[in-house]
Amino acid sequence: MEHFEISGGNRLKGKIDIGGAKNAALPILAACILCEDEVLLKNVPDLTDVRSMLTLLNRLGVQSERDDDGTLHIRVVDEMNCHAEYELVSKMRASVCVMGPLLAKRKRAQVAMPGGCAIGYRPVNLHLRGFEALGAEYELSGGDMMIRAKKLKGAEMFLGGAFGPSVTGTANVITAAVLAEGRTVIESAACEPEVTDLADFLNACGARINGQGTPRITIDGVASLKGCTHEIIPDRVETGTYMIASAITNGELELVGGRLEHLIAAVDSLRRIGVIVERSEKGISVSSARRLEPVEITTQPYPGFPTDLQAQTMALLCLADGNSVVTEKIYTDRFHHVAELKRMGANIRREGGTAIIHGVKKLIGAPVMASDLRASAALILAGLIAKGQTRVSRAYHIDRGYLNIEEKLAAVGADIRRVGE
Ligand code: EPU
Repeated sequence: MEHFEISGGNRLKGKIDIGGAKNAALPILAACILCEDEVLLKNVPDLTDVRSMLTLLNRLGVQSERDDDGTLHIRVVDEMNCHAEYELVSKMRASVCVMGPLLAKRKRAQVAMPGGCAIGYRPVNLHLRGFEALGAEYELSGGDMMIRAKKLKGAEMFLGGAFGPSVTGTANVITAAVLAEGRTVIESAACEPEVTDLADFLNACGARINGQGTPRITIDGVASLKGCTHEIIPDRVETGTYMIASAITNGELELVGGRLEHLIAAVDSLRRIGVIVERSEKGISVSSARRLEPVEITTQPYPGFPTDLQAQTMALLCLADGNSVVTEKIYTDRFHHVAELKRMGANIRREGGTAIIHGVKKLIGAPVMASDLRASAALILAGLIAKGQTRVSRAYHIDRGYLNIEEKLAAVGADIRRVGE
């Protein structure tokens, strides 16, 4: 198993290229099941999660090939298999995104119900509620969700849950409704830019979707979808993570391709902390005042502060001059990084879904282990400024969502390397 070794203390300076958004690419790849012709996707990051999705699609009769300039060519060649097995779904939850497209195009889907997850309880009841509203029948058999419908009919539905809307739930219902008869209206739809990107992709293939980016999405069913060429949006979580890398090292980074308008809440918090964030010619520039102010942060659905940047921001707040409060409202158990940051000298107290962070003067390098993607990123960020050496084990978590993180950070001055075991 590979790990990262980091010697902290270097100021980061230079430019980092931001890749395509993992969480936009995954549902868009799944949606290719719907298309009659070849789809060309640009800016799809070559991450392990993307590879897992391509493996799943291959088993479902969807072929893909990357050409020399990185464009993915995707084409459906066989529509027989409709089964996403537990082996793949348990590796990557986003596998559930094939449910909507399979149901719409092949009239049935058999998808393993995802099990437990390192960031907490993650049900799929909202996805199923949407499919049933469109006329599908559902039953659970041998751990698999079996969904079928001879014909889907447009419907009005409310997709809000106890923790707000669902991102992949909205994606699944949109992809199920694009070929349904008549009009579907989703109230309390997720407004995340990744959902907008999916709707824009489907419209380019001939779908009739309106209201993406707002809580009410309208879908007028069409008979079929063709192919298209589409470029995936830049990854806002990767952008936010490198913003914090700049802030925590008192550095000066330009994040090329990063879109400030997708990160308004995070940028607002960073500015209150004392980080200087500005639009630059090619993306976003980030530098920081030496003193970091404490803040209160609550994660919320978009456009609120993203849960996917909570752990990384907490790493930064460990060094603020005073007490910060971080409340997690999307995944109330997403706090595995707390114990690891404490191993590095952080002073954090957790009370339920809230963490109180008492800023310390310095973090000290230590061997640490993360349980999920964003927590691993937080530990790497802490390692960049910690005194001495930090070893972040289980590099595979990072490889799910950050392409070549050690190369990107080393190129702007970090002392980080990947070590095989
Ligand atoms: N929820 C329900 N019922 C459902 C679905 C969700 O109650 O049927 C709850 C969840 O338990 C959670 C909240 O609703 O409390 C939001 O979950 P959501 O469904 O929006 O999450 P997701 O679609 O499974 C996506 C991202 C996550 C990101 C969340 C929240 C993808 C592939 N994944 O997950 O990304 O944290 O939205 O923004 O898009 C990551 O990239 O590290 C990651 C975990």
